[in-house]
Amino acid sequence: MHRTHTCGELRVSNIGTQVTLSGWVQRRTDFGGLTFIDLRDRYGITQLSFNEEFNKELNERARSLGREFVIKVHGEVIERSSKNDKIPTGHIEIQVSDFEILNAALTPPFTIEDDTDGGEEIRLKYRYLDLRRNPIKEKLVLRSKLSKAVRDYLNDADFIEVETPVLIKSTPEGARDFVVPSRMNEGQYYALPQSPQTFKQLLMVSGLDKYYQIVKCFRDEDFRADRQPEFTQIDCEMSFVERDDIINTFEGMIRSVFKDVKNIDLGDIPVIPYDEAMIRFGSDKPDMRFGMELVDLDEVAKGNGFGVFDNAESIVAINVTGGNKYTRKELDAFTDWVKRPQIGALGLIYCRVNDDGSFKSSVDKFFDQDKLKLWAEKSDSKPGDLIFVLSGKAEKVRKQMNELRLHVGELQGLRPKDKFNACWVVDFPLVEYDEGSDRWHAMHHPFTSPIPADRDKMESDPGSVKANAYDMAINGMEVGGGSIRIHDKELQKRMFDLLGFTEEEAQEQFGFLLNAFEYGAPPHGGIAFGLDRLAALLTGTDSIRDVIAFPKNNMGRDIMIDAPAPLNADQKKELGII
Ligand code: AMO
Repeated sequence: MHRTHTCGELRVSNIGTQVTLSGWVQRRTDFGGLTFIDLRDRYGITQLSFNEEFNKELNERARSLGREFVIKVHGEVIERSSKNDKIPTGHIEIQVSDFEILNAALTPPFTIEDDTDGGEEIRLKYRYLDLRRNPIKEKLVLRSKLSKAVRDYLNDADFIEVETPVLIKSTPEGARDFVVPSRMNEGQYYALPQSPQTFKQLLMVSGLDKYYQIVKCFRDEDFRADRQPEFTQIDCEMSFVERDDIINTFEGMIRSVFKDVKNIDLGDIPVIPYDEAMIRFGSDKPDMRFGMELVDLDEVAKGNGFGVFDNAESIVAINVTGGNKYTRKELDAFTDWVKRPQIGALGLIYCRVNDDGSFKSSVDKFFDQDKLKLWAEKSDSKPGDLIFVLSGKAEKVRKQMNELRLHVGELQGLRPKDKFNACWVVDFPLVEYDEGSDRWHAMHHPFTSPIPADRDKMESDPGSVKANAYDMAINGMEVGGGSIRIHDKELQKRMFDLLGFTEEEAQEQFGFLLNAFEYGAPPHGGIAFGLDRLAALLTGTDSIRDVIAFPKNNMGRDIMIDAPAPLNADQKKELGII
């Protein structure tokens, strides 16, 4: 028998019991005649004690154990003389009467402790060792709980879990495909799914009514903290539903998951139209943990001889509560921050609201106290506050202000990781115009339906048509998105026309789906959530890499197994890709 208990299990109530434990040597403390070892497994750490007086030979052998050796020990649970209140087993230790080395270990390239000395690259190369560390391991444990909570909720609601294929044809999510050459069909390639989108719609044609799948998706996109080339979706689809049915069902799922996994009650989840989100926050995934909403200063800041404002399409402000505390140097740092190429603003205007109610702005030459008072009234500023102002092209300036709002919010401590605020964003534009390709592109994908009231405008004014689509954002991160689909052939044809697909192109790419729709497609809609992103939020980490067991680095490489790798000449020949 390898163990009677785990290393996280024994307590004072077990004192006097003979036990067998197995695990890894985390740390050895050698006092000559007395040796302590921290024995670790997935469940915790138990202190082992060896004493020269109790057994000299055993103590000598224990002194030769290296870090990360795998051992099995037998002994009696005794009370610890110096107790450790920080760990659950901290009041007991094992007086070892015998032990066996199950496997020796090389010295690990970094310390396997909560705070390690290992850099990111080396930890990714030896990911299996990094996973022995609590902070990483606990994230995987939570991820597993999260998947279970999702399955519990959806199974209870009568959803069926169906697996869809991985070797398929290009899917319509708009990123680049990863492709796989086919040996048996030389010169032809499978694409890996960017999502199971078309298959889940086919399953609705099949009458499965409620489908879900926790599924790997593959997208050849540029790296970001919230993106990986392969990631996991909670993918769902339902028949005979409208937008609010989906919103209710999946709001229920997210609430239930947060409750099950972290005992968190998500409060009110507002439903915000896209246009409103852009006006109030400059973002379609607003962080609702704090206010600091965008304020339009056009009316009160234009026409005062300040060219930068007078020539701008839009002038936008935020009020920073208590922001007058910032020094001149700190304000300069904010200006440098917005001028970085990632943000791309040309400058930043500020206006201090002094304690006596007077104003001091960076553009005093153009705006006297009365005029600045109008800014303050619009921005709802109080003495002690600070107003930041950006100007420029309308869309651009709102996006820049969104970034600044998030940055200031972070510095002001308004974005704590243990506070969660969700929202739905609805009524997205159906299509967006791409100057480069001189075409309309689907904002979501070509199967998303326009809201019924806007259908007449699809040809005459496509840019104004709203989609029957919805996203959920939590703390400023898009965690899920979906839509009510087009299920009627005529409407689908109009959508393809709008997107510039010829009939042949549409047939070639999505013929199987269009044909299936000829055989009785029910009205249907669905959504997919990013499991990695939910896990990252729930574990309070900034990068989804931390919640993936074996992630890729920022060049899309798995540096542990060294992939991707070249093929040898024979493989290439066999695959016909020379
Ligand atoms: P969408 O493309 O919005 O929708 O994806 C759904 C959710 O998946 C997550 N996600 C990602 N997570 C990590 N890395 C990535 N590269 C990545 N890309 C997306 C996000 C996102 O909200 N088929 C549609 C869904 C539908 O219409 O039902 C789809 O895939 O959390």
